[in-house]
Formats: sequence, C-alpha cells, structure tokens
Amino acid sequence: MSTTSRKPGTGPSTHPITLEVNGARKQLDVAPWTTLLDLLRETLDLTGTKKGCDHGQCGACTVLVNGKRINSCLTLAVMKDGAQVTTIEGLASGEALHPLQQAFIEHDAFQCGYCTPGQICSAVGLLSEGKAKSLDDVRELMSGNICRCGAYPNILAAIDQARRQANEGTEP
Ligand code: FES
Ligand code: FES
Repeated sequence: MSTTSRKPGTGPSTHPITLEVNGARKQLDVAPWTTLLDLLRETLDLTGTKKGCDHGQCGACTVLVNGKRINSCLTLAVMKDGAQVTTIEGLASGEALHPLQQAFIEHDAFQCGYCTPGQICSAVGLLSEGKAKSLDDVRELMSGNICRCGAYPNILAAIDQARRQANEGTEP
C-alpha cells in the first residue's frame, strides 16, 4: 500500500502473527493495516477467496475463522493472531469434495462462479450455526452473500439440500 503515515527512516512497521490456514501453520509478518483478505490472496496465494466490494457488502470474501463465517475484507489480519482460518481451498478432504461443494455442482448453482467460494464458505458457517430450519431461513441467513449473476434459486437449493442431508435423522 502506498498511503502510509510512517515517518521517513523509521522502517516498516510489521507485526508477527501466527495463523493456522487450512490446517497449515503460518508465521507471518504483517503490516497493521493488512486485511485478512489481502493476506490470504496476496501473501498466501489463496486466490479462491474473492474481493468484490472490499466494503463488507457482498460476501465474496467470506472465510471461516475459528469455524465462524466472517467478511475477510473487514478483518485486520493482526486481530486474528492465533486463529484457525478455513478458505474454500481447505474444504475438500483430499479428492472428496465438501458436501456443499458437491451440492453446488449437483444444482448447477453458479454461473460466472465469482461469488461461489464466499457462498460456500458462508453456507458452511450457516449450517454449523444450526439456525436454519427451512429454505426461507436459508434465504434469510444467506442474504449477506450477493450473486451478481442471479444464481440464487440454485444456490439456495444446493444449500438447502446440504442442510437437509446434515439433519437427516434429526428432523421430524
Ligand atoms: S469483498 Fe468483502 S464483503 Fe465484499
Ligand atoms: S455466479 Fe456469478 S456472481 Fe454469482
């Protein structure tokens, strides 16, 4: 970034942090203004997570931090020292896709695919929150994730299928 208020000659101001990213421990020196999104994409080369608005309004940058979904564009990396971060690259288990990834394929739930990593990470967080009891709940709880292609019907169908599969045997 070119706009710093650092005094000349004081050297770069970075902070050491440790993150566990997709199961791998990373020791990093980050400038205090570095967002988690930029750290993931530009330092760690995990470009599956997308930058849409960069202002917390589209959900393209959604990742899981300690299992909870967050907008990584609004999160400073230094604030997450010691955290576990999961991105779209960390969801599959070897060759086996995550059930939500599989459901997105089965429901043809993407067009350009730009929103898809954020949609899937957000849906993983949604399912672990356990609040969605219906398709309407899924729609409401996914409302922070914008799809400019308008693939919502298939996205919601995919997430709802994964929700019902996850709840099989626990729902009346
Ligand atoms: S890029 Fe983070 S919410 Fe849009
Ligand atoms: S599939 Fe294109 S933005 Fe959602």
